[in-house]
Amino acid sequence: MTTPSASMDSQVAGNLKSQIDAQGNKVRQLKTDKAEKEIIDAEVKTLLALKAEYKALTGEDVGGSGKKSKKDPSQKTAESQMDTLNISPAAEGEDIVDPWTVSTTSATGIDYDKLIVRFGSQSIDEALVDRFEKVTGKSAHRFLKRGIFFSHREMSKVLNLYEAGKPFYLYTGRGPSSGAMHVGHLVPFVFTKWLQETFDVPLVIQMTDDEKYLFKDLTVEQVRKMALDNVKDIIALGFDMEKTFIFCDFDYIGQCPEFYRLMVKIQKHCTFNQVKGIFGFDDSSSIGKIAFPAVQAAPSFSEAFPLIFNGKKNVQCLIPCAIDQDPYFRMTRDIAPRLKLEKPALLHSVFFPALQGATSKMSASDPNSSIFLTDTMKQIKTKINKYAFSGGRDTVEEHREKGGDCAVDVSYQYLKFFLDDEEKLKKIEKDYTSGELLTGHLKQELIEILQKIVGDIQERRKTVTDEVAQQFLKPRKLKYDY
Ligand code: TRP
Repeated sequence: MTTPSASMDSQVAGNLKSQIDAQGNKVRQLKTDKAEKEIIDAEVKTLLALKAEYKALTGEDVGGSGKKSKKDPSQKTAESQMDTLNISPAAEGEDIVDPWTVSTTSATGIDYDKLIVRFGSQSIDEALVDRFEKVTGKSAHRFLKRGIFFSHREMSKVLNLYEAGKPFYLYTGRGPSSGAMHVGHLVPFVFTKWLQETFDVPLVIQMTDDEKYLFKDLTVEQVRKMALDNVKDIIALGFDMEKTFIFCDFDYIGQCPEFYRLMVKIQKHCTFNQVKGIFGFDDSSSIGKIAFPAVQAAPSFSEAFPLIFNGKKNVQCLIPCAIDQDPYFRMTRDIAPRLKLEKPALLHSVFFPALQGATSKMSASDPNSSIFLTDTMKQIKTKINKYAFSGGRDTVEEHREKGGDCAVDVSYQYLKFFLDDEEKLKKIEKDYTSGELLTGHLKQELIEILQKIVGDIQERRKTVTDEVAQQFLKPRKLKYDY
């Protein structure tokens, strides 16, 4: 080895050493702040890589932090800290669930119990549903009783606040990637509407037109148009304008400096490493994608809506969403304490199956994979009869003898979402399982229910003019005083 390169080496080693020190400090700080474990892990990984590089170069170990990172995360038990559990990437054969991919090979769909363990959230058990009913004095929504909303983070905190007469607000959203919404898209909105009516609280709905522009092969004009169409569909579900603010990112962020300032504060407290760990971005991801999570995080804090909350920064937020959105909010909850803000609470739903069954993906580009809000009454009937995957047997005789399988029968699964009558659903389940009822009967039942739901929305949708949409979209104070 020649002298110049040896001195180069020692310079590189010196550089590495100071990087290792800085990285060690960062890890220590994250631990002090009780950051999410996956975020600490990502930084520890970087630290270890730097140390390995140092060792390869100099043949020596560097001392210092990083070692303690092996501490068992399960030692933390407080509910507010539970999401510090690590989310390792899905192992071979495991279900994949993130904002962009939901996939499983199991006929009964995703294993949600395993997801709760992997994501470190809490299951919505009977005790929590009872508490819901006790605190609100109302019967719990069928989605809660039937495990459709099955997981949460800190819902008890929200119920405590409500009991104490303290305020909170609801935040949900939609990425407008297609003009027509299907009945599965209704799930979070139907539930959010019920929550709003039950608790009488403000609701903000984010339309992430920017997200769809960044992540899909769509133009700005296309996503803005789809966002507006979706906004009208959402309004047609019957939201109360005095209590609900809907915003499209492309418009609102320019209208509200407070939102942008908050976004940048969030960005400052989140490294590329961290979003790589959480979202699987890599060096070839556009910087727009990398920065986007801060946009979805921002509405979790009341300072993003100065007109609604009169500038108050710490009004508790509750986010109903499908479980695939959880990565955004694990990140948000991690950053919150470092910005001295409240962590948002969450309620997670399962996914809505495609007509063809829980293993196939429902896609807005395949008109036969679901029932759309734009389908005619006749199309609803034909699609269900023709495509709804049956859990029945090959012949009537065999079906009568052995019974049907509710766990895979799509008509039954859809009824679980949309048939409100608890007794009736139980009876259908019993009689289908015993073989008394055939799939055709379940399909008939479902056709009637969906025709009614979709028909009602179509009626109301006619009254949602551009003016009505603009009223919902206008940044303004709602009927609540702060
Ligand atoms: N990313 C979500 C989607 O693609 C949209 C969204 C934004 C959202 N904010 C949210 C969903 C809050 C649930 C809760 O559909």
